[in-house]
Amino acid sequence: MSTHDELEALRAEAPARIAAATSIDELSELETEVVGKRSPVASGRRSLGSVDPDQRRDLGRSINDIAIELGALIDARREELAGAEAAVALEADAVDVTLAGRRPRRGTHHIVQQVMDEVVDLFVAMGYTVATGPEAETEFYNFTALNFPYDHPTRLESDTLYLDYGDVPEEILLRTHTSPMQIRFMETHDPPVYLVVPGRVFRRDPVDSTHSPVFHQIEGLAVDADITFGDLKGTLAHFAREFLGPQTNVKFIPHYFPFTEPSAEMHVHYNGEWMELLGCGMVDPAVFEAVGYDPGAVTGFAFGMGADRLAMVRHGVTDLRHLFEPDIRILRQFR
Ligand code: DAH
Repeated sequence: MSTHDELEALRAEAPARIAAATSIDELSELETEVVGKRSPVASGRRSLGSVDPDQRRDLGRSINDIAIELGALIDARREELAGAEAAVALEADAVDVTLAGRRPRRGTHHIVQQVMDEVVDLFVAMGYTVATGPEAETEFYNFTALNFPYDHPTRLESDTLYLDYGDVPEEILLRTHTSPMQIRFMETHDPPVYLVVPGRVFRRDPVDSTHSPVFHQIEGLAVDADITFGDLKGTLAHFAREFLGPQTNVKFIPHYFPFTEPSAEMHVHYNGEWMELLGCGMVDPAVFEAVGYDPGAVTGFAFGMGADRLAMVRHGVTDLRHLFEPDIRILRQFR
């Protein structure tokens, strides 16, 4: 076949093949074949030198025309294919924003924390403020200012966890109750005081079904011009009925605490039995003197309760260890 015939054949069949190319890779191979170095177009150009001068011009022109024609077809098809390939890629990458999400599993507060929050909220509703204090305390705030005599047995290392805190004038200990915050708060605030203090407390107790070396208390203190034991009973009975139910019966039994006089335990009738819920009493004048209040001008009552115990009573948990062992199945019941 003459170069001329070969070129004409190419011109006739190439456009259909270009149009039929289905990918950019396939089109590039076709481009090499049709207009590349080994194509009839290239060999036609190379042969021009040996062609008769009077035919050379026509042949040269028709080679150029074919090269331009096919090149234009290839470029147009390449653009088409690029657009289609981009559309396919976009489709594959598409995110369905209407698809339902996977919900993260919701955490919850521990039931002791829930109880502390609830008790604090009940007192806040009665106008009390909330404060928290240090877990590492001095002997002064934990015992002395609260009117504990120097030879009181709970000061002993057998009951209280002392910290080796170097060369400080006061013994440092892990607070055994939240009562030291009564002192800290009154030292820094003038009466009237209506205060609740939730917090963690520590005692040298082995773990059993009702004891733990770490537990939680909520302290309360009300100091005003003429607070009576009647105010104490009314406030704490109201609290018991809010917390355990409106029919809950309460009774007050005489007790002893160094920082209150008189002192009492409040018992509640719940689930068919009487149980102790908290300690309370009228603030001892010696405590007012320790913080610089005039015992002739103010009176007050105080109370302290175990939050862990409240959680157990509320939920019918019979062993304190269930609350603090890391068995998530137990805690999941109390969302
Ligand atoms: N601090 C006492 C305890 O840990 C509880 C307590 C009793 C607190 C009577 C008080 C109170 O404020 O008035 O056993």
